Amino acid sequence: MTEFRTSPGMRDILDPESGRWRRFVSAFEHTVEPAGYRQIIPPLLEDIGVFQRVGEATDVVTKEMYDFVDKGERHVALRPEQTASVCRAFVQHRPVTPWKAWYSGPNFRYEKPQRGRFRQFDQVGIEVLGATDPFLDVEVIALGWNFLAGLGLRRLTLQINSLGEPVHFTSNLEALSAESRITLTKNPLRVLDSKRDEDHAIIASAPRIADFYSDQARTHFASVRDGLERLGIPFVVNERLVRGLDYYRHTTFEYVGGTLDSALGGGGRYDGLVEDLGGPPTPGIGFAIGVDRTLLACDDEGVFGAPPTSVQVFVIDTTGGAEALVLTDELRRSGISADRAFESRSMKSQMKAADRSGAAVALIIGSDELASGTVVVRPLRGGEQVSVSRAEVLPTLQKVLT
Ligand code: HAM
Repeated sequence: MTEFRTSPGMRDILDPESGRWRRFVSAFEHTVEPAGYRQIIPPLLEDIGVFQRVGEATDVVTKEMYDFVDKGERHVALRPEQTASVCRAFVQHRPVTPWKAWYSGPNFRYEKPQRGRFRQFDQVGIEVLGATDPFLDVEVIALGWNFLAGLGLRRLTLQINSLGEPVHFTSNLEALSAESRITLTKNPLRVLDSKRDEDHAIIASAPRIADFYSDQARTHFASVRDGLERLGIPFVVNERLVRGLDYYRHTTFEYVGGTLDSALGGGGRYDGLVEDLGGPPTPGIGFAIGVDRTLLACDDEGVFGAPPTSVQVFVIDTTGGAEALVLTDELRRSGISADRAFESRSMKSQMKAADRSGAAVALIIGSDELASGTVVVRPLRGGEQVSVSRAEVLPTLQKVLT
């Protein structure tokens, strides 16, 4: 028989990592909910057209999409990111603006798997639709920064840029790589992101984006920098920061940390995307932070570890298991976490299981206890054991567990 394994670039997240994962999303929720962001849960799969708007000049769309034709002959794709889905939802439901949404969940990109790069990976993120205020850019950037810093990450830097208006590589068209020539016709700024040798010299001699800012773009970016300074958030302006998706305009930013050479998260303004998806002209800004990659950075820095998992009480029953059945149920109903052994194991093996469970207290029922209607309460980390009547078990535990 075939022993099946996960597909390349896909992983099972088991305990204790799954507990850490849950705590990560919960920490994110507790960062953004108090700032007025409300959760959206978009579907994992959409019409492929929704994602093609993310950028026809990007690998994410041209090479990495998990797409197929479904049984109804619809060309659909698993989402490679969630910004496009949020904008599609905005067009569909027309919520009151400014609309502040947060999300978490898996995304799919057919990339070459390596450390910090998976084919199914999770993100947490926020998007705000319907406001151009530069201080909104600052709010968004600050929420991501505060969240990452709150995890305990110290080797964290914030890079920002403004894309302003498009610059032109057309005068050097002949010398560019074939790939960049195609990129150029679709999104000129993405040439700046090329890793190909022949493009480097041309990129280096490119006019600075900043020289082409409109007055409005210049003022907007100045306000963003001013706002970050007011909040005391350190940043570096990186004029080469264009990000991997096509829809960005004006502000872009990335959170860089850990020992990975790629960003933990990033985002920017995407004024124009809602219109591309059939909606009214609506500005937008947001970011996404990679869960997988950020937890790796936490490992590198030894912060935000997995929370301990244990039950409070372990019930040992050597009389057949029915007492343990009733007692664990009673405990759980009164809010005390409890576990037990199955398969009528020996006293010794049940004691071992109790130790492994991390429980603070074992409740023991042997034949003597069954006959006399009592239970032995044995603290597992120091303290005297006592024998109490069934009615006294809960009050005794409440004392021992505090
Ligand atoms: P992105 O830069 O493509 O932006 O992805 C954001 C983060 O998701 C990355 O920094 C990384 O941590 C994680 N990520 C991306 N691809 C992978 C992968 N293959 N394996 C592991 N982690 C990965 C976006 O997705 C935009 N939607 C961000 C945004 C929101 N812009 C505006 N609003």
